[in-house]
Amino acid sequence: MRPERRRFDALVIGAGGGGLRAALQLANAEATVAVVSKVFPTRSHTVAAQGGVNASLANVLPDNWHWHMFDTIKGSDYLGDQDAIEYMCRAAPKAVYELEHFGVPFSRLENGRIYQRAFGGQSQHFGGEQAARTCAAADRTGHAILHSLYQQNIRARTHFFDEHFALDLLRDESGRVLGALVFDIATGESVVIEAKVTLLATGGAAQVYRTNTNALINTGDGMAMALRAGVPLQDMEFVQFHPTGIAGKGMLITEGVRGEGGYLVNGEGERFMERYAPNARDLASRDVVSRAIVTEIREGRGCGPRRDHVLLKLDHLGEALINRRLPAIRETARTFVNADPVRDPIPVFPTAHYTMGGIPTNRHGQVVAPTADAPEEPVEGLYAVGECACVSVHGANRLGGNSLLDIVVFGRAAANHMIDYLAEHRYHRPLPEAAVEGPRARLDRWDEARGEASVPELRRELQRTMEEYAGVFREQESLDEGVARVRAIREQLELAAIGDHSRVFNTARVEALELVNLADVALAVVTSAAARRESRGAHSRVDHPDRDDARWLKHSLFSLAEGMDYKPVRIKPLTVDSFPPKERTY
Ligand code: FUM
Repeated sequence: MRPERRRFDALVIGAGGGGLRAALQLANAEATVAVVSKVFPTRSHTVAAQGGVNASLANVLPDNWHWHMFDTIKGSDYLGDQDAIEYMCRAAPKAVYELEHFGVPFSRLENGRIYQRAFGGQSQHFGGEQAARTCAAADRTGHAILHSLYQQNIRARTHFFDEHFALDLLRDESGRVLGALVFDIATGESVVIEAKVTLLATGGAAQVYRTNTNALINTGDGMAMALRAGVPLQDMEFVQFHPTGIAGKGMLITEGVRGEGGYLVNGEGERFMERYAPNARDLASRDVVSRAIVTEIREGRGCGPRRDHVLLKLDHLGEALINRRLPAIRETARTFVNADPVRDPIPVFPTAHYTMGGIPTNRHGQVVAPTADAPEEPVEGLYAVGECACVSVHGANRLGGNSLLDIVVFGRAAANHMIDYLAEHRYHRPLPEAAVEGPRARLDRWDEARGEASVPELRRELQRTMEEYAGVFREQESLDEGVARVRAIREQLELAAIGDHSRVFNTARVEALELVNLADVALAVVTSAAARRESRGAHSRVDHPDRDDARWLKHSLFSLAEGMDYKPVRIKPLTVDSFPPKERTY
């Protein structure tokens, strides 16, 4: 049976903050907009963002966008593109006020202004005293933002395809993107969504690791769709390990805990961050804090009977402050480790949190793929924003509080560019029937019982492999072994089955399709990491411990067909002088 066809001006794949911010802008400009989400939209992973969104409002301490820009570039270990970073930091205050007007219930100061807390890597005067730049709704900022954006979209009459899984982009012979084939998880029916312009906003892929802060849905679907469409992924070796995941389990304990005055101690009761970052201490950048924790444990100064974690102390903050500013953290710690932070420290260990790399875009959100003549050639009809994209404002290490900012600033910017694109491309182009066949076959493949390999077992093996061979500290031999193992898992996946046709659940199909995506993304991560022979930001090579700007100040590009390639960092900002690379200390 031929799938149903639906037509919209714009298709947005993913209903997190980036997708919903873009959809709202498009719908308010009178475009017909479809949002496809594999879960109910308010279950998208933005809902889990805790600590806040950065903007130089200067409500608590002096601040300005230029200091924010400097901190972001330094945090990125100079791999971020400075034009995009300037754009984001300048746009931040307006983006936060817009959220406030959409109804986000930010926490307040006594004077009624938006509350701002200190986060890692923030400074005044280009590397001076600590700044307080993170606008928070207690420790549920993402939840507040996502619900407000969803409600605004309902008002703007955005059309939602809830619980629909996007299989692949649909393209004509010239490579222009004309929509996507999606599959309704409830009925199993597939739907062709034709669109004049398509935005990928599918979030990150930290599910490639066993221990992570991410929702189960963060399987790199958009990244893998881009790879299959021939678009390389950029800077995939840079995976952020959040320093304070609950030890052994991975749930996020917000950096806001340290922003409010919490601190880390090792098995000897020592505040060890003083040795690694004498000025910023517990509020050093995340890559620095994660390496410090792992080093303490490797050198035998961990806590607990197995000395395999450190402790995060916040009891000195007092019950009233914890209840007011960190209520969800108290609940999480009580639920998962039976520790009440009002009295007990929380056992923590670095946990995979964020994918700095992704689908390469320019600062208008246009997906760019290198051609022989141009390194930044836009792919017609395709945009990407948020964690699935690499614009690149986070470079080799993202600062906490910059991801919620990234999604609202670039969600809006991409939508504005899409609105212009729609004005120039007023009619739907014909979608060849053949364009649907490949994606359709990817779905039908799971109806055949091919072999014995089990999808859940392969997913666990992939996650264990990535944790063991591409973790916080890396070296050539283990990365090469990681590449070989991920390749082997991909081959086994070719032969995997999800059961006999008559008894296959659609959710099992989704899990299988997600694993195919995860495996492609894992291959991008580990191959890019094996190729980069330097240490920069979150990519820490024990066999190449120094940053090497002469050879490696460049973005990596991984593609399934051609392996690794590289392109220059956009060092030139829009209106101010560049920040040239220098030694990075905190
Ligand atoms: O620690 C946190 O609240 C995480 C924030 C972020 O990743 O931006």
